[in-house]
Amino acid sequence: MADVKKIAVIAGDGIGPEVVAEALKVLKKTEELFGYRFETEHALFGGIAIDEKGTPLPQDTLDICKKADAVLLGAVGGPKWDNNPKELRPETGLLGIRKALGLFSNIRPAVVFDCLKEASTLKPEVLEGTDLIVVRELTGGIYFGDKLRREGAGGQEAVDTCVYSVAEVERIARQAFEIARTRRKKLASVDKANVLETSRLWRETVIRVSADYPDVELEHVLVDNCAMQLLRRPSSFDVIVTENMFGDILSDEAAMLTGSIGMLSSASLGEGSFGLYEPVHGSAPDIAGLGVANPIATILSVALMFHLTFGYHDAADAIENAVKSVLDAGHRTGDIAVDKSKAISTSAMGDLIIAAMG
Ligand code: IPM
Ligand code: MN
Repeated sequence: MADVKKIAVIAGDGIGPEVVAEALKVLKKTEELFGYRFETEHALFGGIAIDEKGTPLPQDTLDICKKADAVLLGAVGGPKWDNNPKELRPETGLLGIRKALGLFSNIRPAVVFDCLKEASTLKPEVLEGTDLIVVRELTGGIYFGDKLRREGAGGQEAVDTCVYSVAEVERIARQAFEIARTRRKKLASVDKANVLETSRLWRETVIRVSADYPDVELEHVLVDNCAMQLLRRPSSFDVIVTENMFGDILSDEAAMLTGSIGMLSSASLGEGSFGLYEPVHGSAPDIAGLGVANPIATILSVALMFHLTFGYHDAADAIENAVKSVLDAGHRTGDIAVDKSKAISTSAMGDLIIAAMG
């Protein structure tokens, strides 16, 4: 019998609990079909943790995550906490958990599903064949550098510092090259080396690491140009590696190419096989509790967990194929439905997917 894999489950806020419930059904179905075993432990995080524990990232949540083999996260945040002081904001918890778990690499695939091409704002012929991954450095750069409000200037000045070390750039570059190697062997390293010192260090380091990956074709793209090329020639990108804030922005842009942010999964990884998996979309407070959210991004995040943390490729393929067949059969939640009157519920979508798994 397979060993038991421990999964920390963070449902979070907004639609988080609804989409996570569907992902848990998929875990159960995987146990039945493939004989794998999962033990789940729920943890509070984000807005709900602020309400119940007075902090977005309680210590016991961190402990549960550290004991686990992987973390499944729904979504956090919402207008209720938007005006809170910094230490009582869900976003602060998010940055804290990334740092505390050493999750320096954020992987965001953007794949255009053929049957959903009409959902994008771009022309189908531009999108044709788009299948890219943004590898975003997640625990460095301007997000984590010193920040200050200069009191001397009457609070009229603020400073955010962007810092990168060679070691930080090297480990993310290696990971991106490794991923490119398993795909079409093309890596675009995105920086602003014509202006920023951190970007010049980034570029030098990526070039040095590239010597170990002669089979991967490397191009350097300035971030402003990359934003443009993503709209002009999205299908020519394979793997994009970039620093934290550029990756934040470009991954949203890449997600929108697909026209369906409700479909996109993501992984945040550290050195070993441990990873945190979550949908790219947010907590969508406007539709929370209505049972209409699209659970596919969270379900595909489970597939990504199987691929990257557990190596359960058979089960991951079964989930991905099930999603595809349900979409091919025309089933849609409201976010991706052309005819909104035919949209199905969150749980109906989950049920169809587990039925299609076998
Ligand atoms: C993301 C989000 C976060 C980020 C915010 C909520 C702090 O936009 O995961 O991309 O900027 O990293
Ligand atoms: Mn973002």
